[in-house]
Amino acid sequence: MTLQTRTGIRRLSLMSLFEAMATPHQIDRYLELLNPMATVRDLRAEVTEVRRTTADTVTLTLRPTRQWRGFEAGQFVQIGVVIDGVRHTRCYSPACSQYRSDGRIELTVKAHPQGLVSQYLHTNAHPGLVLSLSQADGVFRMPARRPDKILLISGGSGITPVLSMLRTLLDEGHDGEITFLHYADTERDVAHRDELAQLAAGRENVRVVLAYTGQSDGGDLHGFFGREHLEAAASWHGEAQTYLCGPPGLMRGVREHYDRIGLVDRLHTEEFAAPVAADEDATGQLTFSSSGVTAQNSGASLLEQAEAAGLTPEYGCRMGICFSCTAVKTSGCTRNLRTGETDSDPDQPIQLCISAAVGDVSVDI
Ligand SMILES: Cc1cc2nc3c(=O)[nH]c(=O)nc-3n(C[C@H](O)[C@H](O)[C@H](O)COP(=O)(O)OP(=O)(O)OC[C@H]3O[C@@H](n4cnc5c(N)ncnc54)[C@H](O)[C@@H]3O)c2cc1C
Ligand code: FES
Repeated sequence: MTLQTRTGIRRLSLMSLFEAMATPHQIDRYLELLNPMATVRDLRAEVTEVRRTTADTVTLTLRPTRQWRGFEAGQFVQIGVVIDGVRHTRCYSPACSQYRSDGRIELTVKAHPQGLVSQYLHTNAHPGLVLSLSQADGVFRMPARRPDKILLISGGSGITPVLSMLRTLLDEGHDGEITFLHYADTERDVAHRDELAQLAAGRENVRVVLAYTGQSDGGDLHGFFGREHLEAAASWHGEAQTYLCGPPGLMRGVREHYDRIGLVDRLHTEEFAAPVAADEDATGQLTFSSSGVTAQNSGASLLEQAEAAGLTPEYGCRMGICFSCTAVKTSGCTRNLRTGETDSDPDQPIQLCISAAVGDVSVDI
């Protein structure tokens, strides 16, 4: 046995001993009282820099603890933040290159007018704030063998995963055509505007096209997405792979257009919000058994219906990613809004945000 192996085993058994001593609380619960970044198991991140480049966004630089395994451009992480003693988890896509040399992560968060976590971060984030962090996840990624021609389309806060792709491609020295087409209301709403100009400067293969929907001068294009925008920004889009992230209207417009021109298999998308699901023919009654609340089934997701009935179930992503909203359906039939599958078995865990009731349903919340 080598010296290294013996030291490793000794470290592991010391750790197990500490953990056993710390039972029932994990050792990280004790360590966090001394230094929340000195964790044995938990992945966390400390905010090291805070920038506010537009009125309603905040850009955070995070230094993750040593458990962080990195990410691929386009993926997302889950951030946990404690507000009034309760931890809330939300998904955010890093905007930096996956090769960032200091290993830090950059997130840009748009403050939603009624949003709990985004408003909190926008107002309160400061260097030294420690957040919980998940490993990166998600299939919105470019293939390992990068396509020759790449069109990146984003709108609003959807800029983050595609900006990460752009920065990553430039770090790799990608020499194929890249167009970055970004939609914003006005030029003042473009987070990372100066950096985008710098990234394109002096690179013949990289083009940044800014489209303003609420401003008729400046920028490159005006109004909402349409065929003419695509032709003007990247006439070669038919030979490219396109990566898209933005608000529902932009996503819908691009998808419909790609469908019409037979290019939908070249379009790769990321959603920040689940599509609105309301079945106008819905029938039945919902029973939220632990709270004794009942409601007429409106066809919306069970999470939305529980909230509409005055309940406050836990949630994170609201689109089936994080499992924060999982609850037990005690009886009735539910439909998975993403896959369309139905489930009639009693006592099944379901994700409230992507489940709708088919007739009478009882859920244990
Ligand atoms: C994969 C992924 C990546 C993402 N990346 C980014 C990113 O890089 N940057 C970014 O800014 N955002 C990103 N998001 C969105 C982000 O996760 C959050 O959804 C966003 O910040 C809003 O969170 P919030 O807590 O501020 O809002 P919340 O308080 O969660 O509210 C958000 C919306 O939820 C609904 N809602 C909340 N409470 C209720 C209620 N009681 N009744 C009815 N409806 C309610 C409302 O429609 C509200 O507008 C991403 C999302 C996903 C899924
Ligand atoms: S809120 Fe994330 S899975 Fe439902």
